[in-house]
Amino acid sequence: MNILLIGSGGREHAIAWKVSQSPKLSKLYILPGNPGTASLGENVADISDDHPAMVTLCREKRIDLVIVGPEAPLAAGIVDSLSAEGVRCFGPRMAAARIESSKSFAKQFMARHRIPTARYALFKNHAEAVRYLEQVDYPVVIKASGLAAGKGVILPETKAEALAALEAIMVKRDFGAAGDEVVIEERLSGPEVSLMAFTDGRTVVPMLPAQDHKRLLDGDHGPNTGGMGAYSPAPVCPPEMVAEIVETVLQPAVEGLRVEGCPFVGVLYAGMMLTASGPQVLEFNCRFGDPETEAVLPLLETDLVKIVEACVDGHLAGVDICWKSGAAVCVMLASEGYPGKLVFGKPVRGSRDKFEHGICFHAGTRQEGGKIVTTGGRVLGVTVWDDSLEAAVKRVYSVVEKISFEGMQFRRDIAQRALKKSAYAASGVSIDAGSRAVELMKAAVQATYTPAVLAGIGSFGGLFDAAALKGMKDPVLVASTDGVGTKVKLAAATGRYRPIGHDIVNHCINDILVQGARPLFFLDYFATSKLTPKITVEVVTGIAEACTEAGMSLLGGETAEMPGVYADGEFDVAGMIVGVVERNRIRPDPGLGPGDVVIGLTSSGPHTNGFSLIRSVFADVSLDTVFPELGIPLADALLAPHRSYYNVLYPHLKLVKALAHLTGGGFIENIPRVLPMSVDAVIHAGSWQVPALFQLIQQRGGISVEEMYRVFNMGIGMVVIVDKKYVSAFQKSIPEETWVIGELVAGSRKVILK
Ligand code: AMP
Ligand code: GLY
Repeated sequence: MNILLIGSGGREHAIAWKVSQSPKLSKLYILPGNPGTASLGENVADISDDHPAMVTLCREKRIDLVIVGPEAPLAAGIVDSLSAEGVRCFGPRMAAARIESSKSFAKQFMARHRIPTARYALFKNHAEAVRYLEQVDYPVVIKASGLAAGKGVILPETKAEALAALEAIMVKRDFGAAGDEVVIEERLSGPEVSLMAFTDGRTVVPMLPAQDHKRLLDGDHGPNTGGMGAYSPAPVCPPEMVAEIVETVLQPAVEGLRVEGCPFVGVLYAGMMLTASGPQVLEFNCRFGDPETEAVLPLLETDLVKIVEACVDGHLAGVDICWKSGAAVCVMLASEGYPGKLVFGKPVRGSRDKFEHGICFHAGTRQEGGKIVTTGGRVLGVTVWDDSLEAAVKRVYSVVEKISFEGMQFRRDIAQRALKKSAYAASGVSIDAGSRAVELMKAAVQATYTPAVLAGIGSFGGLFDAAALKGMKDPVLVASTDGVGTKVKLAAATGRYRPIGHDIVNHCINDILVQGARPLFFLDYFATSKLTPKITVEVVTGIAEACTEAGMSLLGGETAEMPGVYADGEFDVAGMIVGVVERNRIRPDPGLGPGDVVIGLTSSGPHTNGFSLIRSVFADVSLDTVFPELGIPLADALLAPHRSYYNVLYPHLKLVKALAHLTGGGFIENIPRVLPMSVDAVIHAGSWQVPALFQLIQQRGGISVEEMYRVFNMGIGMVVIVDKKYVSAFQKSIPEETWVIGELVAGSRKVILK
């Protein structure tokens, strides 16, 4: 088939190089291309702004498929124009490209679909933006909303710099119309990773994660650039993190665009920051990243054309996408003056297009006579792939050393960040997926260990040093075991395993917290019809994450493969927790009685209860359904993991007389478990906002109010009973909204719903 590729940079040279290896290709045209692409196909003059001329060109050259490299033509609607004339295009239409071309659209879109990103505010008016800046109490980032070639993001160090940035964008209009609207968002911190994914508008298949180097100088100093180099895979983003980003970001974004009527076909790029509270989106791009693509595509084993066609034709789910093991690295060689005023026209010496497991991707070069001369800021992307990142880095710099042009600048520390983390790097090198999964699982489990763990993974029994209790006066051990019930069926159906790990751990933590205990260690049991490394790692990683959040060790566990006992694809998770409490701190407080006040803490969803009922209520709808009252796919609402109340409540237990964890049995059965014989709890049903999900369940299922309160938590996951005089002190000390939902009265150990 004949393929036309639009673009002229290093990214396009990399795409052209990969496309040229396809057995499906007859002829490749690159518009306008560069001297690198000229050896792979025919470069044609750039007419991409003129859509009718583009249609004519596609007809003349009998183009079967157009691949769009850069964002500008996508934002200008090239895919809309060509598709209207029956030309198949790989890339999003204009409406879907807004995810990159309008940061204000992207931020609001992420808010609508609960995609994790920094908090933000949008401004069209300079005075209002200034007023907002004067009163925010967190460090900010200021972004021009429109396309500004990667330069419209300012990270001010001081308020004065922030004000100057607003002035530059909104008054002086440094970025022209791109600055008509401004995003002010919270400045996050953490390592960055770029995760690109192929999508046909429904199915999302991630590529290997990569890391860009945006700053000009070594050690991440100097001004921001278009990218001075990249490497892939990025060990900061191991496979389970990739899965998490797909699940929390890429899949919801693709799903969200589809339900909003602008399906996204092409490459969706998520620029992520891995923060302490999880991966957050810094930006979306609607295309392959540059220079990430130069480092990622050399590792792609599968025919790129086959993947691209599957995206365009909507059957990506049927394509198996494979990657080479090992790593690739790309070092950008830039012109003097870059990223400011450029000096170019300099002859390039020593460049070879191809060498063993490597290639010099052309980015800003021109052919002049027999010579290659510089024409752009970023000139060449020298790329090497090898069995390990270390080997690739060593070799890439040996190639770079031989290339020169006047004023050449490059970073000498590309991928150093990853090499420093050699533990991960080592586990990423040339071991098969299965043993890597075991390694990852072990690492996740071991990360939960405290010095009290004397023997853990691999031993017959876990050893936990009871000397850890010596500092206590009169320690009492508290233990509990539980499962997550039929929620596992939904998890299996949607392939979301990690949240289930959080469910089981947090459920157990809350159960012993109710007696005043702090968790010491946890043991899990995971049984399934067929063990796969990916699923096991996901479940165990979720368990380990939740243990770490509570400062508890995951001392041991058991995984069991039981075909024939569990139906295909199904699994179950259970866990056992041991904690400790000082005898005189055990809850409930025997002095509990009439006059005490009942306070509710929010749940994160149905937690782990009522799923048999939930499944029957929604048996007739797809889990992808977005009910307007929920605004997110049903699966997301239902599978939100059970939260732990340990970190918010444990430090304040002295203000608390009793707690009741609202699990199976809801309000009606759980609160009496902590009441004295002669006391009732009156619950005022209208005293908190019942989340829309419960209202939806009630309506669709035609369920009585009484039954709802007997089965579900109704938006309150933990009930706390406090002496009247401590209510306000308690509410003030809890770092989230709490509700006074009732009081204790004389009675006979029951709940009275009012
Ligand atoms: P962007 O073009 O949106 O990816 O922004 C360019 C660079 O600015 C990113 O790679 C980050 O290094 C930085 N950045 C953007 N947004 C934030 C944020 N909210 N917090 C911290 N750094 C950010
Ligand atoms: N490497 C960043 C980008 O492609 O936008």
